[in-house]
Amino acid sequence: MSIITKVKSRRVWDSRGNPTVEVDISLSDGSLGRAIAPAGASRGTREAIDLRDGGSALSGKNVARALAAVDEVIAPALVGRDVRDQQGIDDAILALDPSPLKENLGGNATVATSLAVLHAAASSARLPLWRYVAEMEGTTPAIPLPEIQIFGGGAHAGRRVDIQDFMIMVPGASSFDEVMEVTNEVYFAAGSIMAQKGKMAGVADEGGWWPVFDSNEEALETLVAAIEKAGETPGDRVVISLDVAASEFGKDGRYRLALEDREMDSGQLIDMLGGWLDAYPIASIEDPVGEDDTTGMVEFTRRFGERVQIIGDDYLVTNAALVEQAAASGACNAVLVKVNQAGTVSESLATFRAARKHGWGAIVSARSGETEDVSIAHLATALGAGQLKVGSFTRSERMVKWNECLRIQDEPGSGSFAGGAALARTWWGRKNGKETAA
Ligand code: PGA
Ligand code: ZN
Repeated sequence: MSIITKVKSRRVWDSRGNPTVEVDISLSDGSLGRAIAPAGASRGTREAIDLRDGGSALSGKNVARALAAVDEVIAPALVGRDVRDQQGIDDAILALDPSPLKENLGGNATVATSLAVLHAAASSARLPLWRYVAEMEGTTPAIPLPEIQIFGGGAHAGRRVDIQDFMIMVPGASSFDEVMEVTNEVYFAAGSIMAQKGKMAGVADEGGWWPVFDSNEEALETLVAAIEKAGETPGDRVVISLDVAASEFGKDGRYRLALEDREMDSGQLIDMLGGWLDAYPIASIEDPVGEDDTTGMVEFTRRFGERVQIIGDDYLVTNAALVEQAAASGACNAVLVKVNQAGTVSESLATFRAARKHGWGAIVSARSGETEDVSIAHLATALGAGQLKVGSFTRSERMVKWNECLRIQDEPGSGSFAGGAALARTWWGRKNGKETAA
């Protein structure tokens, strides 16, 4: 048995230059586990709170209170515990802050601690994280299919484009390496088309191109053109994936597309997105309606759930109970798993299990504020989740995750490449005879 002897927090800095929480867990056998909390910008209102100090210094984003929560409140409750008891440890953390959004300790304090415990346990067992988690969960590992951002919009790019993420997936690739190659080609093709047309503003928060398009559809047109310029037939090996992040531009069933100066109700938004599904090779769509628009999400899923993957991010906030509720009401057919939305590893795993129970897809995901922490590459592989969303194909806080997948795939037992299995029940799967692979 390996016992937690020390829990120590430290302030480090994320990819947007903001302070964040790192936690070190030391064990009686000398092992160390370390993890860093990421941070979202387009956050769901029901996700765990990032505890920040407020005030004027560091734009109010300092994390002294979250660090104190780790060192003064969480640490005493964890020292002396068996590090392998992840569930018991996470339950103990929850008992210290039973508030629904972890506003007392801060989700940033709890997630860094909980993940650091997991790392310490793996290190003590002398296993890579992915293998430790797979053994703990009894899952079959698989190298995930990436979802990679080409254009960034919404809250990540000055709200210049309303839709937040224009991404590609390469479900027709036969290996993870092949996905990396195709993505490189498409990313740079998109960049050169934008530069030629004078549509380039820079790079968005997650490293995708920051476009100055005149309409949201122009982004889709350009993405299709980029896929073609890269030598691909759109919808063949490469498909489009969108994160609409609709809560960012709508609430109470009213939506406002600032770029096009259009206001619409939920039904009109669904019709517009349905038109896009007809016109473009989109196989996956995230948060097509707002987090409060249950009627809209049920309607969207009823109309398009057989055609595309419909992911709840802000809509489900990595919450197992919300997944159960959504499955019962026929909303969504996949869940985004962000450990810091839940606040602990155990709650995230419970969400993943709930999704699997209902035959849903699961996409392990980074946040727009990230760091060198690679935990999610291991979690996605360990769970055989099948999909991993990290942001774009530039900047080291993104590339470190893709590169970690390349290292993991070299380790024996890490499984084969999940490929397009996750999209088996979409139009892409039917077109490519993957229906039975799900
Ligand atoms: P966030 O966005 O990390 O800024 O919340 C990522 C996403 O919406 O998937
Ligand atoms: Zn999202």
